Formats: sequence, structure tokens, C-alpha cells
Amino acid sequence: MKAVILAGGEGTRLRPLTCNMPKCMVPILNRPLLEHVIDHLREHAIRDIILAVCFMPHHIRSYLGDGKRFGVRLTYSMESSPLGTAGAVKQVEAHLDETFFVLNGDVFTDLDLTQMMRYHRERGAKATIALTPVEDPSLYGLVETEATGRVERFIEKPSPEAITTNMINAGTYIVEPEVLSHIPPGSRFTFERELFPLLLERGDPVYAYPAEAYWMDIGTPEKYQKLHHDLLSGGVAKGFAGERTGQGIWVEEGCDIHPQAELEGPVVIGRDCVIESGVRVRGPSVIGEGCRIGKDSVIEQAILWPKARLGQGVVLRKCVLAEGVSIGDQSRITEGCVLGGNAVVGCDQSLTPGTNILPGEELPSSSKRR
Ligand code: GDD
Ligand code: MG
Repeated sequence: MKAVILAGGEGTRLRPLTCNMPKCMVPILNRPLLEHVIDHLREHAIRDIILAVCFMPHHIRSYLGDGKRFGVRLTYSMESSPLGTAGAVKQVEAHLDETFFVLNGDVFTDLDLTQMMRYHRERGAKATIALTPVEDPSLYGLVETEATGRVERFIEKPSPEAITTNMINAGTYIVEPEVLSHIPPGSRFTFERELFPLLLERGDPVYAYPAEAYWMDIGTPEKYQKLHHDLLSGGVAKGFAGERTGQGIWVEEGCDIHPQAELEGPVVIGRDCVIESGVRVRGPSVIGEGCRIGKDSVIEQAILWPKARLGQGVVLRKCVLAEGVSIGDQSRITEGCVLGGNAVVGCDQSLTPGTNILPGEELPSSSKRR
């Protein structure tokens, strides 16, 4: 069976994390989100996967290659300018000759795809949309359904007055190939604003599959952190890479963790990290490959991408550090701060909660050190 993963979005709301990386490649528990999505497809015997890419495609391709390493066959469809979610699928129409899945590439879910396919077939639907409940539907595609599950209305990013339900489009569709004939070739067209409303107007059977699965769109840094929190706190049954060394502690090979470092799970530590004496790491936290954590530093509920360097006595709390970030001795990075790749913070700095630092930006040591 085939699936198309929509992986062309820029991820502007996730900046500065996505300044140098497409959104679908941000690490979740030290592995790119797309790798998790591919694992999920493979678990449901979907092994023929087309990646619809546009923004920074080389990142995706150089990591995933032909998919062999992940037990799937990957092919790439490149858009020189974004064709929209449906336009991207239209571009690969020639390869879609049977019922197929379409997945938003920025969603983490354990939705039962096998059962969804059964549901789609039993109803003879032309398209089936997975639904999930959310608190604020205005950020998503709102889906109104009849008691039978048939979709009545689809409103993308509804205004507050238009909100009639908390069930939204979860970004997983099953589509019959003939539906693609309604998409104009080579132009920007979306499922959400154009194709679904058009199918409903035509009276075609479009069904909603209300899922009880875990679901998170990683669209913003807050949701990115929430996803880690949920995964590490046991909300979703997923295996983590690395050996389990203690209660809720997973450590990959090549790490040098000082016996006087204190780890309190859930914590995931990537390979080749050095953690010096007196360091305290409290979960849920993730430390990426090749990080160095200096003496007496404290990491609480933080996410570190690979190759972060922390001096001594650094405090990180509820923040995200992208790849190669360096933090000087005694600096404090707290709630909601997001530091882009290779950002440098000098010594004795204390960032205001919620500060974003651009990739490569340098913040000198505070005046007492200079
Ligand atoms: N190839 C390609 N080309 N991919 C695209 C394009 C494009 O032109 N535009 C968006 N995508 C990809 C994004 O990379 C992402 O994986 C997915 O399509 C959805 O786009 P977003 O930009 O993340 O949309 P959204 O989050 O605001 O809303 C969508 O997702 C919600 C669920 O998370 C909509 O589908 C909503 O209806 C839905 O509720
Ligand atoms: Mg999204």
C-alpha cells in the first residue's frame, strides 16, 4: 500500500528551530519526526512511501535516502514552489493507482491506520478524514459530521463564530485515486480549502474517522515541548533508542556519565555525551548526541539537540536548545526559551523566559565577567 507524506512546509511558527531545517526533520526523542512517521506507516504494512518535499529537501533526502535502512521504499516528489497539500499529491498522480494514504508530515500520532482503512472500505468512501478533538479548533480544520460519520462541512481555520465542534482534521486521509481528477494540475490547491469543500458540494461520500489515538501537531515550540512531555511521561507506547539504565533513564552508547551526576527520569540521552560531576538532570528531558554538560549544571524538563555545550553551573529549565548551542558558565536559560542552532550565550547570563535566539546569534557574557 502507498502513502504520500506532505513534507514541504516551512514551519515558520516553529522558528528559530526551523531556520535551518524543515519542520518534519526536527528531532523527537533524538530521531527526526519523519522517521517516527515512517515507522508508524511500516507498522501498518505501508511500505511504499512518496515524500512530497519542497523546503530544504536535501535535509530530508540525505537522512532518509531510499528508505532501505527504515524497512520501506521511499521516493521523492519535488515542488519548485509549494503546490499546496492537494497540488503536491496531484503531482504524483501517475504513481497512485489504488486507494492510498495522505499524511501531514508534522503530526505525531499512533492512529490505527489499519482500522481506518477498514472503516473507509466498509463505507465505500471517496475520501476519509481522521479526526481528533482539540481545545482550540480555530488553528485547525474543523469537520462537521452527521451521526453516520459522513462529513457535512469542512472549515479550515474557522473564525470563533463558526466553531460548532471540537473535532478537527487530524491530517491523515485515505483517498481514492479518482478524486485526484478534481485537482487542477500544476497549480496551488489544497485539500482543506478547495478539494474537501468541492467533494462535499458534489455530494461525494466523504467520511470522518474519529480516532481516540494520541495526536500532536508540532506546529509551535510549545507543542513541540508538550509532545516530548507526553511521550516521556508514558502517554504513548513507543520504544526509545538506547539502553534502559534506571527507572525511566535511556542512554545510548559511548556516553561518559560521571558517577556523581544525578539523573531523575524520564530522561533520554543520545550517544557520545559527556556529563560531568554534580550535574543534575530531571525529566522529562532529552539530551541529543554528543552533548557536553559541565560540572554542577542543572537540566530540568529541557530538550537539547545534538552537540550542545554547557559550561559549569548552567541552569536549563523548560527550554529547547538546537544543535551546537553553547552556554557559558553560570548562565540560566529558563521557561519557554528557544535557542537556534549554534547560538552562543556567554557566562552569567540570565535569559528572560520566552526569549528566542536566532541561529548563530551571540550573546556576550554579562558585564561582571567582561
Ligand atoms: N509538499 C508540500 N507542499 N507540503 C505542504 C505544502 C505544500 O505546498 N503545504 C503544507 N505542506 C505540508 C506541511 O509540511 C505539513 O506537514 C502539512 O502539509 C500541513 O501543513 P501545515 O502548514 O502544518 O498546516 P496546519 O498545521 O496549519 O493545518 C493542517 O494540519 C492540521 C492538523 O495538524 C490542516 O490540514 C488542518 O486542516 C489540520 O487540522
Ligand atoms: Mg501543521
